[in-house]
Amino acid sequence: MKDNVRALAAEFKKFLSTRQEDDLTPAAFTQAAAHVSEPARTHAETEQQDHLTIEFARASKKQTSSHCSATLSTVTQETAEKEQNGALNESFSQETATTMSKAEKQALLDQIAEEIKACHRCPLGATRLNAVPGEGNPNATLMFIGEGPGFDEDHKGRPFIGRAGQLLDKMIAAMGLKREDVFIGNIAKCHPMVNPENPEAHGNDRAPNAGEIAVCRKFIERQIAAISPKYVVALGGVAAKALISDTNSLGALRGKFHLLHLDSVELKKPVKIIATYHPAALLRNPNWKKDAWADLQMVMAEMGLKRPQG
Ligand code: URA
Repeated sequence: MKDNVRALAAEFKKFLSTRQEDDLTPAAFTQAAAHVSEPARTHAETEQQDHLTIEFARASKKQTSSHCSATLSTVTQETAEKEQNGALNESFSQETATTMSKAEKQALLDQIAEEIKACHRCPLGATRLNAVPGEGNPNATLMFIGEGPGFDEDHKGRPFIGRAGQLLDKMIAAMGLKREDVFIGNIAKCHPMVNPENPEAHGNDRAPNAGEIAVCRKFIERQIAAISPKYVVALGGVAAKALISDTNSLGALRGKFHLLHLDSVELKKPVKIIATYHPAALLRNPNWKKDAWADLQMVMAEMGLKRPQG
């Protein structure tokens, strides 16, 4: 185990020092990450693993070093800090976003999407069929953020279009909104696969691991800054823990608002975030729908939305 952690650390350091994507082969990353991260799991399994201890860059900063899983978390933190420094120097901010027209915001989101499509900073970039930047209203008051694309999204390059996506559409409609009213995105922009050699296989989805999240999160942070929503709904434990920077279980995080804090963008206007069950988990555990609906109703109350009649 120790050797595997060292191997991953060495790979990451190499990556950080050279910044040459080719130096970190997909196979090496996947192999190393598989040893240090949680075992591959489906979206729904992710929901059920309440005590999942993925280390997130910012959460690890807040915690004592004894709580951090040493090398991996140090390395992901280092990666995230480099990303943060870069992102802070980029010419956008939440404040800038509030002065931008819808068309200007769309242009900024298009530019971020182009960067995502060109990104090969982690091995998911080599195995994806399509990057999935996210889509929706550039002026959205509400954003939904999941963990990462699955099979259908990988094939079409659009977020939440499979069975889970169809349920998400129904959840959005129950709130009195349309898909086009909100922005839908993911923490990871490329399909994390159990077997990356077979993107055509069904049931090949897994949650993004800590390294993949650390490298990719700047994109969702830039999208949030560009859109400058008032509310975010984190779908599932992985998105919730990453965006709330709290390693507590989804069960402990859901049912209340938190303040969103981003690594790379200082939010001058507070953004409220609520965590709820991932739609894929709801498909497997319909008895959780009641709690998910209660979470969404909290957002509706804040936004002054009424459930449509009929
Ligand atoms: N699950 C996610 O987390 N995101 C998607 O886009 C699809 C399924």
